[in-house]
This record gives sequence, structure tokens and C-alpha cells, in this order.
Amino acid sequence: MSEVQRIFETMEYGPAPEDRTAAVDWLEQHGRRFGLFVGGQWREPTGGEYFDTLNPADGRPLAQIAQAHAEDIDAAVASARQALPRWRDLSGHARARHLYALARQVQKRARMFAVLETLDNGKPIRESRDIDVPLVARHFYHHAGWAQLKDEEFAGYDAVGVCGQIIPWNFPLLMLAWKVAPALAAGNTVVLKPAEFTSLTALLFAEVAAEVGLPAGVLNVVTGDGRAGELIVRHDDVDKIAFTGSTEVGRIIREATAGSGKKLSLELGGKSPFVVFDDADLDSVVEGVVDAIWFNQGQVCCAGSRILVQEGVAAALEEKLKARMETLRMGDPLDKAIDIGAIIAPIQLEKIRRLVDEGAEEGARLWQPSWSCPTEGFFYPPTLLTEVSPASTVSQVEIFGPVVVMMSFRTPAEAVELANNTRYGLAASVWTENINLALDIAPKILAGTVWINCTNVFDAASGFGGYRESGFGREGGREGMWEYLQPSFQRTLPEYSVESGPTAVSRPPEEDSDDLPAIDRTPKMYIGGRQQRPDAPYTIEIANHDGSLAGEVGRGNRKDLRNAVEAAHKARSWATTTAHNRAQVLYYVAENLAVRRTEFAERIAALTGCGTDEARQEVHASLDRLYFYAARADKWDGLVHATPFRNVTLAMPEPIGVMGIVCPSEAPLLGFLSLVLPPLALGNRLVVVPSERYPLVATDLYQVFDTSDVPDGALNIVTGCRDELAAVLAAHDDVAGVWYIGPAEGGAEVERLSAGNLKRTWVNHGKRRDWSDPLQAQGDEFLRQATQVKNIWIPYGE
Ligand code: NAI
Repeated sequence: MSEVQRIFETMEYGPAPEDRTAAVDWLEQHGRRFGLFVGGQWREPTGGEYFDTLNPADGRPLAQIAQAHAEDIDAAVASARQALPRWRDLSGHARARHLYALARQVQKRARMFAVLETLDNGKPIRESRDIDVPLVARHFYHHAGWAQLKDEEFAGYDAVGVCGQIIPWNFPLLMLAWKVAPALAAGNTVVLKPAEFTSLTALLFAEVAAEVGLPAGVLNVVTGDGRAGELIVRHDDVDKIAFTGSTEVGRIIREATAGSGKKLSLELGGKSPFVVFDDADLDSVVEGVVDAIWFNQGQVCCAGSRILVQEGVAAALEEKLKARMETLRMGDPLDKAIDIGAIIAPIQLEKIRRLVDEGAEEGARLWQPSWSCPTEGFFYPPTLLTEVSPASTVSQVEIFGPVVVMMSFRTPAEAVELANNTRYGLAASVWTENINLALDIAPKILAGTVWINCTNVFDAASGFGGYRESGFGREGGREGMWEYLQPSFQRTLPEYSVESGPTAVSRPPEEDSDDLPAIDRTPKMYIGGRQQRPDAPYTIEIANHDGSLAGEVGRGNRKDLRNAVEAAHKARSWATTTAHNRAQVLYYVAENLAVRRTEFAERIAALTGCGTDEARQEVHASLDRLYFYAARADKWDGLVHATPFRNVTLAMPEPIGVMGIVCPSEAPLLGFLSLVLPPLALGNRLVVVPSERYPLVATDLYQVFDTSDVPDGALNIVTGCRDELAAVLAAHDDVAGVWYIGPAEGGAEVERLSAGNLKRTWVNHGKRRDWSDPLQAQGDEFLRQATQVKNIWIPYGE
């Protein structure tokens, strides 16, 4: 056979390597050794420690990278702090010009960035060139827009300050863009630490940014391993930490920042379901799987690593998939015709091997294509595991490699159950030709992104981030901007200094007029819509302002809270009922409270010692707040993001789930309602710890709720010692979020204990809000904290 004939027969691709000259020249210019980029200049690391960064495709060193030590991190943070006032006070337009210039530079040097990324990371040039780098540019363009619009769109909000940003190695430059662009747009300054395996494109970016006039200190890049990350996380002068990486490190960071007042966003791991219904177009599905799990060698936090396929088409899909896997091309990532490149490092390769071995030991059937991997460098073949059980290691643990498991289901309900059978909640894809089915399933899957008939599509205009242990906070779009902003009034709030405990009873109880002993009316707990006796027989005496006994309340404990959480979980219908219905219930509460307004005012006055007028005002403001959230309940709309594909991207705010709400001592009615109403209005189910000092105001509300059609279990109240109960709620694995208002130490404990299941927390860091001031005590900030946004991507067109 002639050579030409052979080529026609096999249709093999010839080699098509991308030119690496520009990237290599840049490495050479730096002597293949890089310091830290601090205050607009290169800096030798204190201690002079360097390590090699390797090319995963051949295992050879590319350059030496500095390991930052404490003095270096101090210098970087100081430089960001110094640059902050000028950068923050620049006009939005001026910041927009800087971001625009960065976007332009990324485009101009796109090829060099792409080649450098591929050399350092091992991902196919096709991906770095066509996906990573264009998305980086898009992010800076999009956020140039937010910088321009900040004052108009985010009036009343300021930059958070100095942001420490720690990123992983799977999308080095893209993760930089996701973090740096919104931070700078909002007026923050940055200390960024790339992952130790992939620092090069961040260093090139920092150098380019300085060249195009980004003021010194606005973006500092420090390199090194987890130790350098930890120094940033623990640094006293950092105001916000944004992290992307493993759930394990995310948890460490949650604990390390607890009580520090640092704002935190975490984008962590996943085990995302890829759900295939029997009416799906299987050929599209197969290409979808390729994008879901072999894109970037499966080293993708939102990789579709669990195929859930409807029984009737399981065998057909498996066959088609295997045929397609045979045709995937693995090899030199700089080759333009390569589908799958190299795994980042030997340690990751080992992890993949170990997990796959474990899967096989647990009974999974393993299938890999017949071709073999390159022998040089770190490669792992695309792998399909079938006959896996939903509880097996490979079905539950993030493998972070080109390995997918496949399971079947019978009904849509079973698909949802399997999809949610994980501790993660980053993303999901749903494949069906039936749009009704897709849109029925999408809200039921607990994930921050749901792709319908597509997968791994991203855009700067759409928020991205997790539910559950995949982390919290969003990156991209309007949602993402909030992570880098805070209400302007927050800076000047006074410290929380109110005595928390109950005041002592110093006078004997009043005798009833008929000279008989008073009837004991110790209010019970309010659990599952019923007044329930506390688990333990302990009570707390509650004093009136004048020292007389106002009453006693039960001292709730772990068991009471457990019952309350269980009751809240059962009240599922509150989350799915219409917003109109929830509004009606809140109006009804207002109606019933209004009837008893004098009684409530008298109670508040007697307990707190405030004047009658002030007590009346608190009741009046409470009615106003009820109306406000009743009004808002059906006006917390989602958005349709303008993403640049032929699709609709629905950003839907969804309730967080079962939440714990821990109320302040003061403003026993208004404080309670200010915190309870926003999450309740939006469909959360609550376990509330009312004012520790004046709980009788909340217990008086039981009857109001009972007569207002609040469904059983949607709102539960457990009285007792605030911080004791807060700690139990914060550590509870079936609670998805906790709000805590009280002294700083209590909030710190809530943040620390929340790390277990990475629940969303909102604490006041010891700052005291004025509950009578609507600016501080009601509005969108509360509603945002009570919801998480799910982005649903729906393509259109034939
Ligand atoms: P990692 O979470 O350890 O690393 C991510 C970043 O955090 C790096 O910049 C690292 O230097 C830094 N870091 C490490 N320890 C830190 C600490 N204590 N404090 C502050 N920063 C710290 O991820 P790693 O070890 O590279 O990969 C391990 C596994 O994590 C992977 O197999 C994968 O399962 C998962 N992973 C998930 C990612 C995602 O996007 N969801 C990204 C990278 C890894």
C-alpha cells in the first residue's frame, strides 16, 4: 500500500504542533526562574526557596517558582492595602478602562497565554486556545462593564477591601480571571496565589497588567504551596478570602477564617450527575459525555462524572460511548488535533489509579479503549466504570480524572434521588427532548448550575458556584459581584455590647387578686406547629424590667433542636408552595398581630422597660416589616442572563432549605421578625432561637402563627441559652444555613462549627444593627442571604 493510500485508509491525523517559541522565549527572558510579583515589581522570596514547575506532558521542568514566606505575604498584603484607597476611589469609568485594557491584552497575547497554559498544565491546546483564554478575555470585558456601572447598579455598596484569592491548577488563568476581574471591578485590591503546579500564566498576567498601567499593588501575585495559601488565609489585614479547590481545604479555610470577620466564598469539589432520559438524542449525549468528563482530562470541578441513564437506553448508550472512546486522541497537548492531554502531576495520577482500583475491588466493571497512552509524561486513559452501586467509593468520591461511572434508573423520581445522592451540589446536566421533563427535573436537583442538553458551558454573565458541600458564593454575572461588595453602612456599625443573659428576678411574683397561687404558664417549644414540652424539665426565669417574674421558658437542648429540624424537613410543601401563598400567610400573620398590638406593646414595655411609645413603635414597625416581606415574597424574581450562545440562561433564586436563625437579645419582636421573615417569605423552613433575654415576646407569637395558616413545621421556635443552641444548629448536618446575631464570640463559634457540612452562615461579627432602621434591617441583602441562585442553561434552535 502506498503512503497516500494508507493515509486514506486510516484517516489518521498527522502531527500539528502549535508553535511554542513565544512562550519559551518569555521563560528564557526570565532565566526560567520567577520571583513574586508584589507592588508592581519582581521580588526575591525571603529565604530564597524555589521549586520546579513541570510540563506534565513530558515530566520535565519548565521553570523555577518562588515559595513565598510570611514576610513576602506581609509585603504583598501591605502593598494591596496601600493601593486600596486610590483604586477604590477611582471613578467606575477609570476602573473600567483598566479592565478593558486587560481584556485587550489577553486577546492580543492569546496565543502566548494558551501555549504557556498548555505547557504548564498539560491541557490540549485546542482547549486553552478555544475555551480558557477566550473566556478569560470575556471575563475582563464583562467586568469592565460592572466597573463602569458599579455606582448605578450597586448603590449603597462599597468594595470589601484587600482580597486574598487562592486558585487551583485545573484552569489556572481562567480561575485568575474569575477572581481578579470582579474584585477589581468592585474596587478591591488583590493578593492572588496560583496553585503550585501552575503559576506561570498568573505571573505572565501580572507582568502584562503592570505593562498596561494597572497601578502597582492593585494585583499582587505570590506563589508557593498550601503554606503560602494558609498565610494569606490567616493574615489579619485581609478582608476577604476567595478560594477554589478541594472541599477538604475549603473546610480548613472555613475554620481558619471563623470569627475573623473576613468575607468568604468557596468554590469546591463536585460529583456532578449527567442524567440521560430515554428520549434523549443519544449521539448528542455521547458528545456531551466527551465534554463532561474528558474535557481537561476530567480535572474539572463540575465534571459530569456520574452518568445516570434511563434503563431502556443504558445498553445502547454504553455501546455508543465505547465506540466513541476508541476514537478519542490522546497525546502531546500542544498538538492541535489532540482531544485528551496529560494529568497535572504524578500525585494526581496516583490518586486516580488508586480510586479506580478501589472501584474495581468494590465490584465495578472497568472499560478502557484499546489504544495505549504515551509512555512519557503523566497520562491516564478515558475510563468507564459500570455496574457500580450508588454508595460505592467511585460513585461518591471526586476522582478528578477522566473516569466516569454509569448507573441506570427507571423513573424521573429515581433519577432525582440518585442525582442528589451525594454531599456535593455543583452542577448537573439533564438530557431529554422533552422540555417539560427537563424543567421539572432542574429545580429538583440540588446544584448551582443545571445544563439542559449541554454541559460544561460557562460565561462571565452567568453566576457559577455550589450548593451543599460544593461551597458557597457565586462567580460571574451580577450574582458574583456581591461577593466583592458590602453595604456601605457596615463600616460604621457600633460594636454589639448588650448583655445577653436574662436579667435576674429580684421581686416575688405578683399574687393573683383572688389570693390563689398564679397558674403556671410556662410556654413550651413550638415544634411542628404544636406546642411541645421541652425534652428536659429545666426552665429559665424571665424577669420584667422591674425585677418581677414575667414568666418562665423551657431551656431547650440538643434533642429539642433535633426534633425541630426534623419537623422543618417534613414541611417540604412550604418550599414548593407558590410565592403568592406565602405572601398571603404573611399578610395573615400581620392581620392577627394587629389585633393584638396593644398586648404585644405592653409585653415589650414591661420586659424591656422601654416607654410605651417606643414599644408601640416596635409593634408598628413589625407590622410594616410583615407587609414588606409579604409584598416581596412574590417579587424576588430571577434573571435571564445574556450569555453569548443560542440559549436562555435562567438565574433562579431558590431557598437554602432548613435554616437556623439565632436572634439578638434586643428588639424582641422587631429583631425576631426582621430575621425570620425574609427566609420564610422565600420558602425556607426555620428553626428559630428567639431573644434569650425576652423570649416571651416570641412565645406569645405561637398563637398568632397558629391562627395564620403558617404550615406545621415551617417555623419552629426553641427557647433557651442562645449560644448553646446556636452551636448545636451550626454543627447540625441537616441544617443548610445559620444566621446568628449576637456578640462576636458566638458568631465565631457558629462559623467554625459550620465547617462540617459547609453550611451557609451569616453572622454579625459583633456589629450591632439598628432594627428600626430599614436601611440596616430589611431589604435585598436579607433576601439574598436567604436564597442561592441556580443557573439553568437551556439551548434553543435545531
Ligand atoms: P487543593 O485544594 O489542595 O489546592 C487548591 C489551592 O489551595 C492551591 O493553590 C493550594 O496551594 C492551596 N492550598 C492548599 N492547602 C491550603 C491551605 N491549608 N490554606 C490555603 N490554601 C491552601 O487541591 P490539590 O491538592 O491541588 O488537589 C487535590 C484534590 O482537590 C484533587 O484531586 C481534586 O479532587 C480537588 N480539586 C478540586 C478543584 C476544584 O476546582 N473543585 C480544583 C483542584 C483540586
